[in-house]
Order: sequence, then C-alpha cells, then structure tokens
Amino acid sequence: MAIPVPLKRVAEFEELGFGMFIHWGLYSILGRGEWIQDRGPIPAEEYAELQKRFSAPCYDAKRIVSIAKAAGAKYITLTTRHHDGFSLYDTRGLNTFDAPHSPIGRDLVREFVDACREAGILPFFYHTTLDWRDTRFRDDFPAYLQYLRDSVEILCSEYGRIGGLWFDGNWSKPDADWEEDKLYALIRRHQPDAIIVNNTGLENRGKVGNPELDSVTFEQGRPTPMDREGMPKYLAAEMCQTVNDHWGFGYADLNYKSLRTLIETLCACRKVGANYLLNVGPTGDGEIPLIQEALLRGIGEWIDITGDGIYRGKPCGVLGEGKDFALGADGRMWFYVHDLGVIGDSNVTVDGGEDGERRFTGPMGKIKRIRWTDCDEELSFVQDGDGVTVSATAYPYGKHLVVRVAEAELAE
Ligand code: GLC
Repeated sequence: MAIPVPLKRVAEFEELGFGMFIHWGLYSILGRGEWIQDRGPIPAEEYAELQKRFSAPCYDAKRIVSIAKAAGAKYITLTTRHHDGFSLYDTRGLNTFDAPHSPIGRDLVREFVDACREAGILPFFYHTTLDWRDTRFRDDFPAYLQYLRDSVEILCSEYGRIGGLWFDGNWSKPDADWEEDKLYALIRRHQPDAIIVNNTGLENRGKVGNPELDSVTFEQGRPTPMDREGMPKYLAAEMCQTVNDHWGFGYADLNYKSLRTLIETLCACRKVGANYLLNVGPTGDGEIPLIQEALLRGIGEWIDITGDGIYRGKPCGVLGEGKDFALGADGRMWFYVHDLGVIGDSNVTVDGGEDGERRFTGPMGKIKRIRWTDCDEELSFVQDGDGVTVSATAYPYGKHLVVRVAEAELAE
C-alpha cells in the first residue's frame, strides 16, 4: 500500500523542524505550574482574583521571539487560552476574563503575532478545549462548544495568517461529542493553510484522530517512526516537551534537562521526521527564566555549528547503529554521530566516547565526499552495496558537540 503524498502545508510544517512552546498565563504569577488551580485546589473565584495582579511588566514579545530565533526555532506555539479559561487575546466581548481587562490592558496575542512576523517566525496558537471556569463546560456543553468556536474564530480572523492551531483538552471528556468537524471547518474557512493539531495526551501518543488534523502529537515522549502506509492522508508528527517538569512556570522546579539531553532529543525527533516543540514557562512578570533562555540558546549554538540538515534533511531509509542516523535531501546526506570522545589523554578528557568507524546502511547515491559540518575536515569512508562506513574522528581538544554532524555530497 502506498504512502500518501503530504499536503503542501504539512510538508512545510515538517520542514520547520523545531519550535518553541510557551505556557504563560495567570498561573505563572503563582509559579507552581499551569495546573495549580486544579491541583491546589484553588476555588475558581479566588483564582480569578489573579487577574487583578496580571500586569506583566516584563512581557516583551520581541525579546521572547528573539530568544526563539537564537534557539533556531522556526515557529512558536503560545497558550492563547489555557484550562483556567483566561485568554491572552482580546475576546471581544465574549467575556472579560482576558488580558485587555487586566492591569496590563493590552492584547498580548497581537503583540506576539506582530513580533513573530517581524522576525520571520511562524506564530501558532495553543488553545484549550476544556474550561475550569466557564460553567457551560459542565452544564451546557453545546453552548460551551459554540463559545469555544466563537473564541477560535477570533483567533483565526483577527491576526492575519497564522501557522496553526494547537488544541488540547479533548481528553478531559473522552466520550463527549466535541463537534470537531464544525471547529475545524471554521478554521479552514479563515485559515486554509493552517496546521491543525489536537493533542492526544500522555496516554495516546501518536494516535490518529479526526481526518482534518495535520499532525499527531507525542507529549513528553520521543516519537516512534510513523507507519503511513495506507493512511488516507499524510500526517506529520510533533513531540512537545517541558524543559524541566512543568509547562507553566514553576519557581521551585530545578529539575532541568541537560543541554545534552535537549540536543539528543531534537535529533531523535528529526531522525523519524518529527518536529520538536520545546517549552518555556515565562514568569508572572512575563520573562523567560534565564536558565531556560540559556538552554534554548545552547540548542541554537548547536544548530549554527552543525548546519541546516536538521531542518532540511528527511528520513531516507538509511540507518545508523545505536543512536546514530542519517537524513537526506537535495543531493546531500547528513550523518548524525553520537558519543564521540575528545582526543587527548586522561588529563583532558573525563570519559570518552568512541571514535572510529560508524556504519550506515540503506539505499543511497554515490558519495563524493564527507566532511564534518563544524570544520572542513574530510572524513575517509568506504562505500559498498549496502551502505557506507565512515571513519569518524573524535573531537579535537576544546570541542564537544554532543552529536557531531557529517555532511555528504552525492554525485549528480
Ligand atoms: C497537557 C497538560 C497541559 C499542557 C499540555 C501541553 O495536556 O494538561 O497543561 O498544556 O499537556 O502539551
């Protein structure tokens, strides 16, 4: 059975490769994650008092976007409304539980979209589908769904072209009729090129849903290769992940992933053609915590050094051993080599990975030359009928890229 050809918007989404997720809202003021109203629990009316404190003096959309850009992210997915029901955008009369009716008094989504556009970053909107505050969610679900559609219609019609809509919350009523067709049809009316995602959550990673959806989600888990044979439509895949253990700001969550883990996870996603959506949680003041910014910038340094294969390269049926893998596109191939050591003795290197031969098997054109992307060193290789064996040199003292990338030029 055939693998369907991706729609243009889906193919373009896959090439974005890496995005920044932002969880920001009233909960950020408390600094105990975005679920604190539910987990506290905090009664809805008491929680709603936070709105009076939402002045976000440090929110600077341009600065946030510039951090994403430095990280090498091509898109940003912002929580325009989360489960607490508070909207960062102007709900234009649907209710007053939004940023314009808070001390900050501005439409923060507008600022976000403008800053993205100026920087050439594609804005995506996260929007919850559940609501802890609006009583219609419990008592009059059809009326609530109309409110949800009216909310989404604002986002689709007032902010120009957007990259996509990222829904989350249908798992809260697994047996309900969410009238998804109506919601997606309205998006298509306004934003025919938008990617539509509906997060299937921790229990259902990679699960295929409504036919209008463009991508499956892998929340907090590395994506597995997609089996697209016989699918009615080609679906992209995206993994989203927290940088520590919370999506929304957690002032006492110090359990950060290492830069090594983040780089390896980005690679693991791209290995199977999936996007990596890495989250930051700005403080209530609206600032991305320094440590989160630093980790993101670290990923950007890795991308700057190792080149554009991470966006352009696609899985091409060539496999490496262990974590190693290859991507290909446009007469080029990229070999992602893990766990290399640093050249030196025990004075300069603590623990060494292995240099030496790395084997990649699968169909590939004739290779003309292979060189490390981080320097011009050419690598010797032996190509045979099944693949290629590359002599991967270890890092020179002073360098360690976690994953080193060799680029191959193929003969015409
Ligand atoms: C989960 C959480 C939600 C978060 C989302 C991000 O669904 O419940 O708070 O926004 O994951 O993927």
